[in-house]
Amino acid sequence: MPKPTEKPKFNRRNPCIATLKETWELTKGCQAKDTRHFTVDLAATGLDYLPGDSLAVLPQNCPATAETLLTQLGLSGDEPVTPAGADQTKPIRQAFLEDCVITIPDKKVMRAIAEKAGNEGAQLAALLQPEEKAKLADYLWGREIIDLLAEHPSASFEAQEFVGLLKKLNVRLYSISSSLEACSEEVHLTVATVEYESHGRKRKGVCSTWLAQRIDEDTKIPCFISPGKGFRLPDPEDETPIIMVGPGTGIAPFRAFLQHRKATHAKGKAWLFFGEINAATTFFYRDEFESYLADGTLDRMDTAFSRDQADKIYVQHRILEAGAEFYKWLENGAIVYVCGDANRMAGDVDQAIHQLLSEHGGMSEEAAAEYVEQMKAEKRYRRDVY
Ligand SMILES: Cc1cc2nc3c(=O)[nH]c(=O)nc-3n(C[C@H](O)[C@H](O)[C@H](O)COP(=O)(O)OP(=O)(O)OC[C@H]3O[C@@H](n4cnc5c(N)ncnc54)[C@H](O)[C@@H]3O)c2cc1C
Ligand SMILES: NC(=O)c1ccc[n+]([C@@H]2O[C@H](COP(=O)([O-])OP(=O)(O)OC[C@H]3O[C@@H](n4cnc5c(N)ncnc54)[C@H](OP(=O)(O)O)[C@@H]3O)[C@@H](O)[C@H]2O)c1
Repeated sequence: MPKPTEKPKFNRRNPCIATLKETWELTKGCQAKDTRHFTVDLAATGLDYLPGDSLAVLPQNCPATAETLLTQLGLSGDEPVTPAGADQTKPIRQAFLEDCVITIPDKKVMRAIAEKAGNEGAQLAALLQPEEKAKLADYLWGREIIDLLAEHPSASFEAQEFVGLLKKLNVRLYSISSSLEACSEEVHLTVATVEYESHGRKRKGVCSTWLAQRIDEDTKIPCFISPGKGFRLPDPEDETPIIMVGPGTGIAPFRAFLQHRKATHAKGKAWLFFGEINAATTFFYRDEFESYLADGTLDRMDTAFSRDQADKIYVQHRILEAGAEFYKWLENGAIVYVCGDANRMAGDVDQAIHQLLSEHGGMSEEAAAEYVEQMKAEKRYRRDVY
């Protein structure tokens, strides 16, 4: 196993400043999503990392979102304010861009809007009662602070009063998709742009759209490493096989793993499962992964392109199709790594592993559950899901 990084040099309060070197679309020609590769230049930073780490990025808010909010509040944008944690005043427009969460509302903001709106706020106030948690979650789905203000026009705020309600803009984590052994002084990211429409407005995920749409080579990117403590490779000399399951952006750490294993001549066998929408437009890093198959860095790659046929095919279907072989690898001590969507994929893959244990290992439900628990206890089942 590579040595864990020493105490990180940079953190949330003291990020390093990196710059963008290169970016390209990984989903060219695909209408359904926009996922991009980013190469961030670390030359001036002294930042280092290990495969399995994530990069924490401190983004800026979208100027159009900030302007809409200012208009809704009846503010010019020039009003001086001191955002939480800051020691200097700045115009509220700048605070909205750099310092404050201006999209997703928390209870403090909601409570203040409900109070200021008087009778108009009674329904929102009722939703804030502890027993209405589920109804509140339903109400909030797809709603941002701007929507709450628009629905409660009588709630009015002074500039500082409003800024005082807002949480500090926080970092977003991205699994690093490169290895320093292969890409010295660079960190690569694989980022899906979050954009959707709700309640008649176009919404933009703060950090993914900042990276995809609002930065260039001159932009300062405040960032630091978030160590992926549980997501580490075996030592290159160690012959333990590894199985990597990474649909969508879940592929990111496995590109880092494979770059690292190639550079360090890792001995154990490696098997990759990748899934995306279709082979023609969303087979991320295809040439690179095929070269790993050709040179033996990768022993096997199974792909699941969900929309290339009438019925959805996902990574867990490929795992089940290869169940006998998968079981053999498990019996040979393989470590299973899973990365990507936490909401559905991770659970479905987990279920597929239980199913193949019963189909190919002849285990009862209880025995399969015990087997998986044992894998977890031995750190042979590691998940990095979001
Ligand atoms: C350890 C870790 C590693 C990660 N690695 C990666 C990676 O390699 N690549 C990657 O792309 N991401 C990765 N992520 C996710 C990433 O950190 C961000 O969460 C993601 O980019 C969204 O951030 P954002 O600022 O663009 O969106 P935000 O501004 O944070 O908005 C996201 C929010 O928008 C809302 N939302 C999103 N879609 C909808 C919808 N359709 N309808 C209604 N509401 C919606 C939800 O409330 C959601 O929480 C990782 C996360 C973790 C924790
Ligand atoms: N709201 C947004 O705009 C947005 C944008 C990007 C990412 N995200 C979120 O970010 C995370 C990762 O997204 P991503 O773009 O990397 O990939 P993703 O959305 O997880 O999609 C990758 C592949 O996984 C498939 N998939 C869907 N459900 C699955 C399941 N239950 N089991 C296994 N595979 C499944 C998808 O198929 P199908 O899509 O054909 O079903 C697609 O082929 C997800 O949590 C996603 O919700 C949100």
